[in-house]
Amino acid sequence: MKRVFSGVKPTGHLTLGNYLGAMRRWSTVDQHRADSLFCVVDLHALTVEHDPGRVRRLSHQAATLLLAAGLDPQVCTVFVQSHVDEHARLSYLLECVATDGEMRRMIQYKEKASAERDRGGSVRLSLLTYPVLMAADILAYGTDEVPVGDDQAQHVELTRDLAVRFNQRYGHTFVVPRATHPEVAARVMNLQEPTSKMGKSDDVGPGIVYLLDEPAVVRKKIMRAVTDSGQDVEYDREARPGVSNLLEILAACEGGNPEALAGVYESYGSLKKDTAEAVVELLRPVQQRHKELCADPAYVEGVLRDGAARAREMARPTVDGAYRAIGLLPPA
Ligand code: TYM
Repeated sequence: MKRVFSGVKPTGHLTLGNYLGAMRRWSTVDQHRADSLFCVVDLHALTVEHDPGRVRRLSHQAATLLLAAGLDPQVCTVFVQSHVDEHARLSYLLECVATDGEMRRMIQYKEKASAERDRGGSVRLSLLTYPVLMAADILAYGTDEVPVGDDQAQHVELTRDLAVRFNQRYGHTFVVPRATHPEVAARVMNLQEPTSKMGKSDDVGPGIVYLLDEPAVVRKKIMRAVTDSGQDVEYDREARPGVSNLLEILAACEGGNPEALAGVYESYGSLKKDTAEAVVELLRPVQQRHKELCADPAYVEGVLRDGAARAREMARPTVDGAYRAIGLLPPA
C-alpha cells in the first residue's frame, strides 16, 4: 500500500484554498487508497513572527478542521508535528546534506523573507531551513506521495533531491516521494487580488474565504470578487485571472471543468451567484461537523494523542536508520 503524507501550517485560519487544493482530496481520496498521515505542522509556524497562544489555538483549530473535513482517524493518522520528535531529529541530518544556495533559491523563502524585511522585522534562520524540516516530515515516513497545492511543488522537488543525495552518499535510506496536485483549483487565487494566491497568512481578508466563514460572509466576499474588464465569461488564467479563478472554484465545487463552465455563463453576476452558493454548500457539512467536534475537545485530543503514538512508531525506524547511515554512533 502506498504511503501518503501531507500537512497544514497553523499560521492563520484555514481557507478555501487549503480545502480545494489539499484537504478535500485527503479525505475523499487519499485516506481511502493509501496508508496516510496528515499533520498540523506547528513547528513550521514558528518560522515567522508569532504569538504563542495564537499558534496553540490555531493548531487545535486546524486539527479539528481536518477531522471536520472528513479525515477518519480509524483509517488514517492525524497528529501534530511537535508531538513527534523524529521530525526535528531528522531535520538536522538533512541540514547536513542540503546547501545554503539551495535554500536561498526557494521561491517561498524569497517571498516571505522580503515581506518580513518590508515589515521592518528580521528573518529567522528557521525560515531559511523551513524546506529541510518539510523534507524531514515527508522522508521520515517513507512517503510515496505528497498531495499538495501547486505552491508546494518546489519544496517537494527539493525533498526528492535531498532523498536522492542522502541515498547516494550514505546508502539507501529514503523513499523518493512525488507531489500530486488536484486537476482544478491547485492554486486558488485571492478574490481581491486574483494574481496572488489565496493565502491564510495574508492580510487581505475580503479576498480570502475562510472555512469557518458564515454563509452570508462567503456570499458577500464572492459577490464582491474583483472581475476583469470585458463582459464575456472566458477561462484564461493570464488574461482573465479574476473570472478564471471563479470558474475554477465553481468547477472544483461541482466536479466540472472550468473551460466548459465558461460557455454556460453570460454574465459575471450569475457566475458569482452560482459560485457563492456552491461554496456555501461545500462548506456547510464541514462547518456543521466542526461545531459538533468543538463540543467534544477531549475526542480531538484523544485522536491527536493516538495519532502521535502511531506516527512515532512509523517514523522511528527510518530516522534511526538515517542516524546510523550518516555515521553517528548508536547509543549502547
Ligand atoms: P499550507 O499550510 O500553506 O497549506 C496547506 C495545503 O494547502 C495548499 N494550499 C492551496 N492550494 C490551492 N490554492 C491555494 N490558495 C492554497 N493555499 C494553500 C498547500 O499547497 C498545502 O498543500 N509547507 C506547507 C506545510 C507542510 C507540508 C509538509 C506539506 C509542512 N510540511 C509536508 C506537505 C508535506 C504549507 O505551508 O502548507
